[in-house]
Amino acid sequence: MCGIVGAVNCKNLKSFLLKGLKSLDYRGYDSAGVAYIENDVINMHRVVGRVELLENELSGPINSRIGIGHTRWATHGEPLIKNCHPQKSFHETFTLVHNGVIENYLELKRDLIKKGYAFTSDTDTEVIANVIDKEYENTHDVLLSINNALKIIDGSLAIAMIFKNDKEHLYFAKRKSPLLIGIGTDTNYLASDALPMIKVAHKFIDLSDDQYGYISKDDVKIFKDQKECAYKYTTRNAELLNIDLNGYPHYMLKEIEEIPACMSRLIDNYYDGKEFKFSKEMLKAFKDADTISFIACGTSYHASLIGKYYFEKINKRANVYIASEWAYFPKFESKGKEVFVMVSQSGETADVISCMKLIKKHGNDTLTITNTKGSTLERDATYSCLLYAGVEIAVASTKAYNAQVALLYLLTNAIVENTSSIGLLKNNNIVLKQVISMKKDIKKIANKIKDSSHAFFLGRGLDYYVALEGSLKLKEITYIHSEAFPGGELKHGPLALVEKGTPVFGFITNKCIEAAIRGNFSEVKARKGTVYSFVTKENAKKGDDIVIDDLDVDLAPLAIVMIAQYLAYYTALARNNDIDKPRNLAKSVTVE
Ligand code: G6P
Repeated sequence: MCGIVGAVNCKNLKSFLLKGLKSLDYRGYDSAGVAYIENDVINMHRVVGRVELLENELSGPINSRIGIGHTRWATHGEPLIKNCHPQKSFHETFTLVHNGVIENYLELKRDLIKKGYAFTSDTDTEVIANVIDKEYENTHDVLLSINNALKIIDGSLAIAMIFKNDKEHLYFAKRKSPLLIGIGTDTNYLASDALPMIKVAHKFIDLSDDQYGYISKDDVKIFKDQKECAYKYTTRNAELLNIDLNGYPHYMLKEIEEIPACMSRLIDNYYDGKEFKFSKEMLKAFKDADTISFIACGTSYHASLIGKYYFEKINKRANVYIASEWAYFPKFESKGKEVFVMVSQSGETADVISCMKLIKKHGNDTLTITNTKGSTLERDATYSCLLYAGVEIAVASTKAYNAQVALLYLLTNAIVENTSSIGLLKNNNIVLKQVISMKKDIKKIANKIKDSSHAFFLGRGLDYYVALEGSLKLKEITYIHSEAFPGGELKHGPLALVEKGTPVFGFITNKCIEAAIRGNFSEVKARKGTVYSFVTKENAKKGDDIVIDDLDVDLAPLAIVMIAQYLAYYTALARNNDIDKPRNLAKSVTVE
């Protein structure tokens, strides 16, 4: 969840740390901090709030080439200065930043207090610093101290650490939380994802669980259980470089409007003009499978529901599980072959990773669908498919959702070798562009509902799955309480919540449910709720609010969801919210 950066022998250290933290602050923005060695002293600056505040605090030049930085999504301890990272150890031997959650930190803290250690924060991070500090008091060996600490500490951690005023080495350790090394020219880097390093590092090293070591200006040493580990270099997509707003006021708006281009890029990556380009071995695994089980969280879970529908259309049994549930109540099909599909924009969602570990142990094949090359879920799966959507910066996912749905559409069509689906997906882009051209109309609706306290979304069939995603978007960034229901469920409870003026959004993209959903609209209107209907032309009636051209029923979610994405965006804008960084949320949820 938190973001980590670090560098050794970095000529533009201040700029690297601050720009790096800005590129990572989608991972958390409760506080920010840096530490660096200047004139043989460790300087530390920490602020509660955004990286911009840290930038003000660091207005002067920094005479240092080694440093670490952190953006925090608070888990242990409120966002107060004392709880910001970096944290120093009791003897000031170590200064570190951390991402993850230490499960036995209270127990460890109690032990350390008994041994005379005092604490200045409520964080589990300070406990890590002090466990390593205590080991160092005995061993006087940094690497051995980290190794020993890893044996004592339970939980997830990615740390970057400065040792006393050693200007030559930056130490690290990794378990469950993501951390990778970037190799530059006479400078080496550490970060919790590739984004902050993409402009300065020409290759990367992905760290595995329980590895630790150090980077120096021209060397990398990685160990596990005191044994030195060999490593491989990897690369990242150049599209990570496209992180400018390009004139847009917010990333969310930019990312919604990139959707048609994402669709075309997906087609180019998975279809060569004659046949699909998915791995033959993977397609065979799906053809041979009796059951396909999806595991995902949040928006990716909603995309998976549509994936289930696509698999059922090609006569495959499919399940969709919420990762944080399945991880505690794992279920494997007792008969036949079951392939698991992990859907995750970031590829780093801790709950999905926990499930992946159980599935691998059980021996099933896995496919990861992700936007993040080199992410943990991408590396650990039997097969992986990238979304090629370009980096998504706004916390509320938009283009990645559309890319997930489109990829699942392509995949299921590839399994049954139906290339006519490509034409349909290409034509669908015309309607997606039409939605973009209608954004002013959607903005008018947003302005009407901006002061609502509650909102409801209704749909049936695929439209219901889109309603779930539309409702999530609205609540994430507008803070309006919102729920989604299958139309038929309305009268089994939710109707009790509809009052005069309560906005109820309804989607109709399939003739077979038009009459039924219109019946639900009437029920809402009879209670003086306000219905806003988003429909396709063939289902349109006088008074519908947004009418888009007809499209293939299976692809309708791609267009309808964009209406809901715009609705959330403009409503949040009207409420003056911080659209790209909604309160209490983070984009990459690397804690369970
Ligand atoms: C967080 C984000 C959501 C995202 C979910 C799953 O909650 O705020 O936008 O849908 O995590 O993330 P993933 O990276 O696994 O798709």
